[in-house]
Amino acid sequence: MEPLSGRALKQRLESLAASGVGQVPRHMDRGGADRRPMKLEPPAEEPVAAGCAADRARQLLVLAEQVTGCTLCAELAASRTRTVFGVGSPDARICFLGEAPGADEDASGEPFVGRAGQLLTKIIEACRLRRDEVYILNVLKCRPPGNRTPLPDEVGNCRRFFQRQLEIVSPDYICCLGATAAQALLETTEPIGRLRHRWFSYQSARVICTYHPSYLLRNPAAKRDVWEDMKTLMAELGVDL
Ligand code: URA
Repeated sequence: MEPLSGRALKQRLESLAASGVGQVPRHMDRGGADRRPMKLEPPAEEPVAAGCAADRARQLLVLAEQVTGCTLCAELAASRTRTVFGVGSPDARICFLGEAPGADEDASGEPFVGRAGQLLTKIIEACRLRRDEVYILNVLKCRPPGNRTPLPDEVGNCRRFFQRQLEIVSPDYICCLGATAAQALLETTEPIGRLRHRWFSYQSARVICTYHPSYLLRNPAAKRDVWEDMKTLMAELGVDL
């Protein structure tokens, strides 16, 4: 395997740090011949041990490391500052699934930290939850140039990653934020307006769909609709908002 270039190595180390990896094995910082090839398929030998938060955290770190080395989408791999994996509790009962990193997330390595992210944090807190009690991830782990909508091939390439992330966290509920997330997860082309007000299943989770926070920034009137969706979700958890 070719040694990593200086830029690629810096990008990889920064993405790992943003995903919570504090140390890398010695062979990784050299990119030498003893590097193991990146495994792109979810490691079948890594069964999820239900109920063990430390094990889930460890498995997420293994997956985050695979994501940092991914070059399946050549355009995204060449233009990203760093990959954006996920953040929150490995034991979360609720996952929020977004579309793709924007400029702020590409710079920081953490999902939903820009304006839309701050609004998502407010929504989470209005549900009487903390950001660190839920798990937040995107369909794509790299920023599409100019924040364009992810291409079907890009969603296809990243499916193995978000699927495995959700398998490891194994939430009871997944809240899809916007059409791209909902359509990618549910493998449908139905518009978001028709996916709201319905429950779906994904792995062992129940899935609810609502509007993306970026849409709310452009259309504040839709905040009422999202609040209704959050009340529906939280009522299932036994919380009356
Ligand atoms: N929009 C998303 O879908 N995800 C982010 O992380 C930020 C903005």
